[in-house]
Amino acid sequence: MTKSTPTRRQLRPRTLQVRAGLARTGFSETAEPIFMNSGYVYESAEEAEESFDGTRDRMVYSRFKNPTVALFEERLAALEGAEACRATASGMAAVHAALVCQLKAGDRVVAPRALFGSCTWIIGDLLPRFGIGVEFIDGTSADQWERALSKSTQVVFLETPSNPTLEIVDLSLVAELTHRAGGRLVVDNVFATPVFQAPLTQGADVVVYSATKHIDGQGRCLGGAVLGSNEFCNDVLGPYLRHTGPALSPFNAWVLLKGLETLDLRVERHAANAARIARFLETRPEVARVLYPGLESHPQHELAKRQMTGFGGVVAFEPEGRQGSGLHAAERAGGHRHLQQPGRRQEPGLPSLDHHPPAPHPGGEAGPGHRRRLGAAVGGPGGCRRSDRGPEHRACGLIRAYRSGHRPIRV
Ligand SMILES: Cc1ncc(COP(=O)(O)O)c(C=O)c1O
Repeated sequence: MTKSTPTRRQLRPRTLQVRAGLARTGFSETAEPIFMNSGYVYESAEEAEESFDGTRDRMVYSRFKNPTVALFEERLAALEGAEACRATASGMAAVHAALVCQLKAGDRVVAPRALFGSCTWIIGDLLPRFGIGVEFIDGTSADQWERALSKSTQVVFLETPSNPTLEIVDLSLVAELTHRAGGRLVVDNVFATPVFQAPLTQGADVVVYSATKHIDGQGRCLGGAVLGSNEFCNDVLGPYLRHTGPALSPFNAWVLLKGLETLDLRVERHAANAARIARFLETRPEVARVLYPGLESHPQHELAKRQMTGFGGVVAFEPEGRQGSGLHAAERAGGHRHLQQPGRRQEPGLPSLDHHPPAPHPGGEAGPGHRRRLGAAVGGPGGCRRSDRGPEHRACGLIRAYRSGHRPIRV
């Protein structure tokens, strides 16, 4: 393989997302090659032995390292401004590995209540089984962070904005308190994406992604990533991944490389669409409350402006009344897809709309308590809806349907 582009030589993010790490085989191909192999061949037993014991620097087994996966890792690390990246088979594999690789019995974890359901399950149900203490707090309260982090704490985990209630957590404040408590701050940056927020520059130690979301962005495959220092990725996370094996498939790594190439184009359009929808929903009588970090009415709008360069593609809203009649009109007229995947373009022209309580959703995987909490965060009996328009044309679907049932409108 020949490297054709020096990874980070002052290249801008838009260039990095296309070129960082690019390496070509002797065939001079235009697109990155896919190395669909599990292992490698050796000229001699000595070479095999030296490769496995690390004396020789070469790839030995795709559970540890694979050229296509390594290219994806290098490109995402460059985009994030991280020293290193390790890819995983899914976002939850990344969250799980980032937490468990650095914890042991007797340690303590602090996290906001507003988390994706499976993250809540790992922290609230799984970690305590292994003797790890856990405290959930209101992530928007500086006082609660101060109090929780006045005790020795090994890991703080948070999402900002959170899924699905779009709470914003003060990254630099929490990073400072975490370090004072002796811990590492792990940030799930899925909703912000590397385009709109750089947690490592604001004091976070580790960033995790579900690459399934915006990085792929086209509903094709699962993937995840953990980013941080060389020391963390090589010495703390590396052995954990090597021996437990949540490896990303080389094919999926290639799909995600293709997704990265257009990441900024897609998420900037998502965010523009989301802002338009959020402003529109604020005017509707059928909607009790709208949450979008870009709205002046969002409780942490000023903080979001300080730590993000854009506000993401997801809008949470609560229909007025139990049945959310306006929502049902929208569903009838707008041809919405009901799905659970933020950051993903479902089909051109079809916006996505999904439900938190009362309808089932992976966010409810943590059980009824978690669902109740999410419902409470966005209000009343109609539950919480989450709209993610993706990059389709701004004037279709939800807004048109809400406005008129069937008449086309301009927004
Ligand atoms: C904030 C957040 N983190 C992690 C995940 C898990 O990602 P995956 O579905 O790729 O395992 C999700 C999935 O929706 C998510 O929204």
